[in-house]
Amino acid sequence: MTSKQPKTAKPAAEARRVCVIGAGYVGLPTAGVLSTRGHDVVLAERDERRLNMLLAGEMPIFEPGLDVLLAEGRAAGRLRYMPSAAEAVQGCEFVFLCVPTPQGDDGAADLSYVESAAAEIGPFLEPGTIVINKSTVPVGTVNLVERTIGRSDIAVVSNPEFLREGTAVTDSLHPDRIVVGSTDVRAATAVAELFGSTGAAMVITDPTTAETIKYASNAFLATKISFINAMAALCEAVGADVRDLVLGLGFDKRIGFEFLRPGPGWGGSCFPKDTSALVHIGMEHGYDFGLLRGAIACNDEQIERMVHKLEVAAGGSLDGKTIGIWGLTFKADTDDRRNSPATAITAKVVERGATVRAYDPTVSANDANSPDLAGVEIVADPVEAARGAAVIGLLTEWQEFRWVDFDAVAALMAAPSIVDARNLLDPEAIRRQGFTYVGVGRT
Ligand code: UGA
Repeated sequence: MTSKQPKTAKPAAEARRVCVIGAGYVGLPTAGVLSTRGHDVVLAERDERRLNMLLAGEMPIFEPGLDVLLAEGRAAGRLRYMPSAAEAVQGCEFVFLCVPTPQGDDGAADLSYVESAAAEIGPFLEPGTIVINKSTVPVGTVNLVERTIGRSDIAVVSNPEFLREGTAVTDSLHPDRIVVGSTDVRAATAVAELFGSTGAAMVITDPTTAETIKYASNAFLATKISFINAMAALCEAVGADVRDLVLGLGFDKRIGFEFLRPGPGWGGSCFPKDTSALVHIGMEHGYDFGLLRGAIACNDEQIERMVHKLEVAAGGSLDGKTIGIWGLTFKADTDDRRNSPATAITAKVVERGATVRAYDPTVSANDANSPDLAGVEIVADPVEAARGAAVIGLLTEWQEFRWVDFDAVAALMAAPSIVDARNLLDPEAIRRQGFTYVGVGRT
């Protein structure tokens, strides 16, 4: 069943009582957006530190615009925070599960948080409550949650989230589409109506298809990036320019421009976990998803290719060299370093005997003990990262790197050299300032 919501659809028809469980990257924007749609939202977070920060009006994660969104909900009296999920669900008509589903050792998603949240709330749900899986979960999890709750008067629905970190608020307020998976049309329609007039396409389908759509979206986007990273390697081999190549591709409406930025490889808390999980789901059901395995392998190679670029720029070996690193998060506008290509590359550079001086606007010297930054010296600004460096690796596309004082950087390096893994800088301008410049897929 597929329908497109009319552009003139009214805002959420009726204020509903909604509980969101989990104050993470998905739960926080979800709670904020539902409260701006006029619903009465209670957000349950059992981590005391996170909860106390929220109660004090502070943000436990860095996400542009989230503070304003949540403050609006609080000021309007439509957003409350509570420690106990069991208490929070009482009196609610809708309960969103937004708990983490990390990657288990075998590549499959670890559902223990989903299961324990479902078990905890089960006895306290009002009859007729609709429980919504928003966490990214393997096919069949709606059934698992139904079984865990074990009540015939509770409907469980899949409503996957498509927001990106860094643009989570805009993505949640203006989604391209809303996907709802349920065998219960009444429940699916009620969930769809909660979002009011977003102008988004509405896809109402069965739970298995909804769960698969989420993995398919991330797998497709990751494959698209791997494709352009592979094309960038080919461009380097034949002497073509990947940026013009993307122009030539992107004007074809069937291809488009989105997610065709070559870089150091895709990372974050979603693509690596979800692509592995989908390969695993395929294997469990007798399908070898070779295409996706190829995209994952291509991504691993991309990280290695960036290390190689740094090695070449440093004169053939990293051993004993100082390397300046700009950017550690998995992309710009987030403080998230989970599965960050930048930290993976940095770790390999350290492993090969280099001293690393790294700068990232979201990382301070206090973070230096974090396991992903082992052996890395954190400095307070990008110029300082260049002191004595054989080469600078620009690994995350923070816009501030465009405006660094390159004369000051060059003055701290014996032979100014930069590997721009994000193609952020203008090669001609940077070469004019005396740098050796290496980008991705362009000469
Ligand atoms: C991704 C999806 O884009 C969201 O739709 C989805 O909801 C989310 O995962 C999730 O499953 O929770 P996110 O991981 O926040 O969102 O970040 P993206 O903007 O998709 O970037 C992922 C990685 O791809 C980053 O490492 C980024 O630098 C890289 N990337 C992205 C590129 O290398 N090139 C591009 O053109 C785009």
